[in-house]
Amino acid sequence: MARKAGRAGSSAEVPTIGEVPVFIDNLARLYQADCFEWLERQPEQSVHAVVTDPPYGLIEYSSEEQVKLLEGRGGIWRVPPSFDGHRRAPLPRFTVLRQRDHDELRHFFQRLGALLRRAAVPGANVIVASNPLLAHIVAAAMVEGGLELRGYIARLVMTMRGGDRPKNAHEEFADVSVMPRSMWEPWVVLRTPLEGRVQDNLRKWGTGGFRRISKERPFGDVIRSGPTPVSERRIAPHPSLKPQAIMRQIVRASLPLGEGIVLDPFAGSGSTLAAACAVGYPSIGVERDSRFVAMASEAIPRLAALRVREEGNA
Ligand SMILES: C[S@@+](CC[C@H](N)C(=O)[O-])C[C@H]1O[C@@H](n2cnc3c(N)ncnc32)[C@H](O)[C@@H]1O
Repeated sequence: MARKAGRAGSSAEVPTIGEVPVFIDNLARLYQADCFEWLERQPEQSVHAVVTDPPYGLIEYSSEEQVKLLEGRGGIWRVPPSFDGHRRAPLPRFTVLRQRDHDELRHFFQRLGALLRRAAVPGANVIVASNPLLAHIVAAAMVEGGLELRGYIARLVMTMRGGDRPKNAHEEFADVSVMPRSMWEPWVVLRTPLEGRVQDNLRKWGTGGFRRISKERPFGDVIRSGPTPVSERRIAPHPSLKPQAIMRQIVRASLPLGEGIVLDPFAGSGSTLAAACAVGYPSIGVERDSRFVAMASEAIPRLAALRVREEGNA
């Protein structure tokens, strides 16, 4: 299926399947489904870019862990200490993952890579939000699944991870941090294999590169970012909501000619789809949890309508 979506902003000719999607703003479609099962049913070569923020513990969105999060007791979710009177959003604790979890993670991303390779056209960008502890597994596994590694985008953001003194010995070792204080978030950049030269893919599929910020400025791999603003978290209170400012920059760059369909198989509350609506691209989201589908259907048009200040490529 060659370039299906037409120019950005035109109505999308997206593939239809048995399930009924929620339509948002004519540009976005959201399916409630397990994305692995959903991807298996998709026609080959039906999307042109993938921008996604997958679950990492693989268990953090299980019903058991979600109950622990809601009850605020134990589990993989950590509620960071409040700061300046502001309560911080809970974060998954990836250091509790063991070898068995890493093996599962590898299998998960290998399978995802293989399914995305099939569902996306040649030369499609696949951009995956990650974290410094697990990005190497994501990259290696998705390459095993058939994608090509193209590098990393560094989102410069202060997270709550790292920088702590040794537990129960913080006074004795007051000058020690157990690990570097994390000040960036890696996004793994992959691509489905090209068909011929870059120019052939650009002509045939509208893929094979990144959309430049301007004629003079290429899209860069370091983006200054802040945490998700409270105004956005009020609209979409998902524990892993990504800010519109960075999502719009990445989504815009993901289609080199501004033509095609962007897929987010782990749509959450819809920040990728909202960013796609804001830049005028058709998009498809898949989310397994009905509560987040309901949240996303409400949130996407509101997030898309927000005016945001982009901090920009560093
Ligand atoms: C890290 S969150 C994404 C949040 C999103 N970036 C946002 O801004 O709202 C991952 C999402 O994937 C969903 N999920 C987990 N496994 C899934 C699966 N197999 N298929 C579809 N969705 C899944 C979870 O319910 C969760 O909402």
